[in-house]
Amino acid sequence: MSLEDDLGDWRRSHYSSELHGMDGREVTLMGYVASIRDHGNILFVMLADKDGEVQIVFKRNVGGSEPEGTSQELFSKARMLKEHSSIAVKGIVRSMKNAPKGIEIVPKEMKILSLARSAPPFSVYSKNIPLDVRLDIRAVDLRRHYLRAAFRIRHNLLKAIRSFLDERGFIEVSTPKMISTASEGGAALFPIFYFDREAFLAQSPQLYKEQLTLAFEKVYEIAPIFRAEPSRTNRHLAEAISIDVEHAFVNYEDIMGILEEVILHAIGYVKDKCKEEFSILGIDPVKPEVPFPRYRYSQLIDTLKGKGVRIEWGDDFGTEHLKALTNMLRGYYFIVDWPASMRPFYTKVKDDGSNALSESFDLMHNDLEISSGSTRINRKDELIARLKMQGLKPESFTHHLAVFDYGMPPHAGFGLGLERFLMTITGLENIRDATFYPRDIDRLVP
Ligand code: 4AD
Ligand code: MG
Repeated sequence: MSLEDDLGDWRRSHYSSELHGMDGREVTLMGYVASIRDHGNILFVMLADKDGEVQIVFKRNVGGSEPEGTSQELFSKARMLKEHSSIAVKGIVRSMKNAPKGIEIVPKEMKILSLARSAPPFSVYSKNIPLDVRLDIRAVDLRRHYLRAAFRIRHNLLKAIRSFLDERGFIEVSTPKMISTASEGGAALFPIFYFDREAFLAQSPQLYKEQLTLAFEKVYEIAPIFRAEPSRTNRHLAEAISIDVEHAFVNYEDIMGILEEVILHAIGYVKDKCKEEFSILGIDPVKPEVPFPRYRYSQLIDTLKGKGVRIEWGDDFGTEHLKALTNMLRGYYFIVDWPASMRPFYTKVKDDGSNALSESFDLMHNDLEISSGSTRINRKDELIARLKMQGLKPESFTHHLAVFDYGMPPHAGFGLGLERFLMTITGLENIRDATFYPRDIDRLVP
């Protein structure tokens, strides 16, 4: 005889979050077993569903004096449960002061829809489990309340950002992820087989989103970017989600203003909508003040040199540099006007006579870069010159360059890393936890 039951015609009548004020009513609940406490004649089973948990009390009917005792058959069945098993319970709602959230269920019938075959190496309540142990069985790891809360915040962040951009008249676009040439100089590409040719996974939608401003003026895309990052850090993934924005007839100053508003709106939205999630994370999110401070690249180099830190103009800031300025560089701030030589070829050079700086910015949170953006070059001859200067072949960009013969408007934009933004809001320390199934140099499964 199978220990497991089919769903049959049972359907959930309520979620665990909907049981208040329902004393005495019969409900059908479904979910999984989050924990079991066995007190001999009483078994407390926590049933978890997508909204939360509720306690089911199986009480052995000794002597038949207890009207709400559980039948022998049902009690034996409950005894077979293991954590994580998928179950459905029909029972009566009862207020109970000592129960979590003041409610428990007195069961009448139960279906074991799927019995857990083995105990996972951690409980849904645990913290501080080694990352690799968790990632190996990520689907189960994601049942942990901590992560579920973080991913519900992620969901709401995306919702807030989409609705903000929609209201501002942006249109959501999708661009190819299989491409023929690089767009971001520095970052390495993943080669793939494309029929009989070599192709690459897109490092960013950069060139396509620029082209799309020709027809749509204001576009955004929320999609994966692929970076063959050989580094093992807690802030780099091989596959990340980028929120890319591109806007015609504006420059990087305007774009920084929009990015500030995106950040402010998104934080305000989740702060309001995700109170329970933040309390699970033990975090009280703070809406930052705008405008965010803006520091020029050269100014930071000078400040660091003044402090005796070894750094030269043209060097990138490492964590150790930013930490040296930790009194100044706190929360959200921009680093603007980077050396043109340090930025991708499409970045507009600053019109200050020096030819050395660019109209570009990074948005930082403490020592973490969460977004990069710039004014773009919109003149073909200038773009060809920059390509050559960066050692790239204009012939590889023929189709992109062709667009610039048809009145490419001035434009600017940014790419905001979703996982990094989520880290700053939730306090997650490793970027691998800010995505469902992380991809990095050591991990291609699950
Ligand atoms: O700074 P990046 O490389 O800039 C671009 O891709 C430009 N096309 C953006 C633009 O519109 N000018 O990437 C943008 C953001 C980074 O600031 C970071 O938040 C995130 O994408 N990002 C990564 N996140 C996780 N892992 C990685 N390997 C990432 N690479 C970039
Ligand atoms: Mg960047």
